[in-house]
Amino acid sequence: MTPRVALVGAGGHGLSHRRTLQRLADEGRIAVAGLCDRQPFGPDPSAPLDGVPFFTDHTTLLATVHPDVVVICTPPHTHLPIALDVLAAGADLLLEKPPVTSSGEHRELAAAVESTGRLCQVGFQALGSAALAALIAADLAGPIGVFGAWWRPDTYYTRAPWAGRRLVDGRPVFDGALVNPFAHALMQALVIAGPAYRPALLELEAYRTRDIATDDTTFLRVTGADGRQITVGVTLASAVFLAGEIQVGGAALEYPTDRLRLPGSDLIAVPGRTGLLENLLDHRADPAVPLLAPLRRTALFTAMGEAIVRSAPPLEIAPKWLAPHPSGGGSVLPGIDELVRQVAATGELPSEIGVPWAGRPQLLRLS
Ligand SMILES: NC(=O)c1ccc[n+]([C@@H]2O[C@H](COP(=O)([O-])OP(=O)(O)OC[C@H]3O[C@@H](n4cnc5c(N)ncnc54)[C@H](O)[C@@H]3O)[C@@H](O)[C@H]2O)c1
Repeated sequence: MTPRVALVGAGGHGLSHRRTLQRLADEGRIAVAGLCDRQPFGPDPSAPLDGVPFFTDHTTLLATVHPDVVVICTPPHTHLPIALDVLAAGADLLLEKPPVTSSGEHRELAAAVESTGRLCQVGFQALGSAALAALIAADLAGPIGVFGAWWRPDTYYTRAPWAGRRLVDGRPVFDGALVNPFAHALMQALVIAGPAYRPALLELEAYRTRDIATDDTTFLRVTGADGRQITVGVTLASAVFLAGEIQVGGAALEYPTDRLRLPGSDLIAVPGRTGLLENLLDHRADPAVPLLAPLRRTALFTAMGEAIVRSAPPLEIAPKWLAPHPSGGGSVLPGIDELVRQVAATGELPSEIGVPWAGRPQLLRLS
């Protein structure tokens, strides 16, 4: 039987899921059962999947078209109730990252997955990277460093009602630099550290260069119970673009591009990413095919994200340290590209190396 797949949250990033559904339907691997979005879209012949049944409420979609698989791509703080309804309706789930926004919600969702016997794959697509698999296979020890330096104009923070916020209606939403755009890097670093990795100490320095509630420049040092450290420096306020790397044991994975340098080798492209929906379909057909991003694999990410979002508000970096972006649209922090690289390489936080705008790190607790 051809699996019937539906999508809840068809706008925003949901457009990329619509393209995937269209492609898989064209290949005959799925039938598209329906789309749902709170915003009713008018007919648009240029949009993927124009003309499939459309609903403005996911419960009506579930009751009407009875999908086998549902992709959820709505804002993070809306995920849990929709996911519970999908599981209760007997469908399997591809749930966008972050799966939920607290450890309590994570436990509730995991219990529902268990009791319904359904599947839940989480949208960390970088876990399907062949380059990541090659790095994990190399089994390298030692501290892990992560950095990235990107630019987002101020308009990025007007893209959605939850953009630039830490809370909506008193509930966490994940839009800080590390919990949203760089979430894939953090998730990959946790997978490299391994399933037994347990943080004993989390030290956070969170900054903002603009008028937002959340952080756009973030440093985190995690010390595991085994002493292994993961140190992260990421920013969305850099005029110099660094795609970003995860460094461990003399190796480096350029995580957005899947280029990998193993110890003693050159940086080479390791092409190949298994799509998460394809992997979920393969696993449904043959349980011997492992799920790449099952919910349980993301529990530590959720716990760390919750701790970051619930920490004290980010420190503002004063305008005197900033400069206009060469193309306009906002400010940049000159030299931040070198700093994030240095932090990842040394494991030292900005406050420990005399960065003038740095404040003291916060100690985070996981719940
Ligand atoms: N995997 C990735 O690389 C990646 C990239 C971008 C976004 N995301 C994730 O995708 C999700 C959506 O992000 P976005 O930026 O598209 O958000 P968004 O705010 O643009 O929302 C997406 C759509 O969901 C709809 N929606 C909101 N609440 C709904 C509800 N209750 N029922 C039905 N539809 C509803 C909105 O109308 C909108 O069209 C988030 O979890 C985000 O973190 C993942």
